[in-house]
Amino acid sequence: MTALSPQSLPQHVAIIMDGNGRWAKKQGLATRIRGHEIGVEALRRTTSAAAEIGIRYLTVYAFSSENWSRPKAEVDALMRILVSSLGKELPTLLKNNIRLNAIGALDSLPKSCLKELNETMAKTAHNDRMVLTLALSYGSREEMVHAIKGIAQQVAAGELKPDQIESSHVEHFLYTAGMPDPDLVIRTSGEQRISNFLLWQISYAELYFTPVLWPDFDRKHLEEALLSFGTRERRKGLTSEQLQSTVSAQ
Ligand code: IPE
Ligand code: IPE
Ligand code: MG
Repeated sequence: MTALSPQSLPQHVAIIMDGNGRWAKKQGLATRIRGHEIGVEALRRTTSAAAEIGIRYLTVYAFSSENWSRPKAEVDALMRILVSSLGKELPTLLKNNIRLNAIGALDSLPKSCLKELNETMAKTAHNDRMVLTLALSYGSREEMVHAIKGIAQQVAAGELKPDQIESSHVEHFLYTAGMPDPDLVIRTSGEQRISNFLLWQISYAELYFTPVLWPDFDRKHLEEALLSFGTRERRKGLTSEQLQSTVSAQ
């Protein structure tokens, strides 16, 4: 495999970790839950690999707003897995100097989850090698509505005029305020959709879809995605010639 060059690495990688249920079915398991449990191991491998490779921000879609509508037994199991993994992963996060962060409607999580999450975030708050953000009870449309409400309140209070509203005001009220936008979005399991994930933030992200089911995802798959990213020309509306001249002027 060609070596990954540091100049062409994304700063921020976002992953839609999909396919746990299909993985469990393929293994002939009676429930989807085991797929979610093994999915945690894939997240551990991917997090360590991303930090070692030099990714600064890794954001993973762990539970969507829409996932609350799944059968209660599955939702309960996912919350249980979340609590137990947060506790178990703390030493690895500390050892690898990774800060844990979370985005989403976190208040809708069970109290035990929120407590464990807040504790793990506080204990890793000073780590600065990579930020691992869990998107939990996350939906991009809800996030945008939340931002619109924040802006509307500023307008109602007379702090901001409607014609002064800019992208930066929206960004200020997003859960991701202060984070760079993802450069690369990876979705596993062969689905080619975004499923209400970071719609504002991925405006210019490169998309990478792989048929690999999330519990099977490992460092080699991450490196394949990063290599593909390295071959993309991110024009952002410019022509290829304009980009070449900016590169040669540097
Ligand atoms: C992703 O795997 C995990 C969550 C959405 C919580 P799925 O549970 O969606 O697995 P599939 O897509 O049914 O295989
Ligand atoms: C997206 O996966 C959400 C997460 C990975 C947490 P889903 O399995 O819920 O998405 P859809 O329903 O296939 O779009
Ligand atoms: Mg799915």
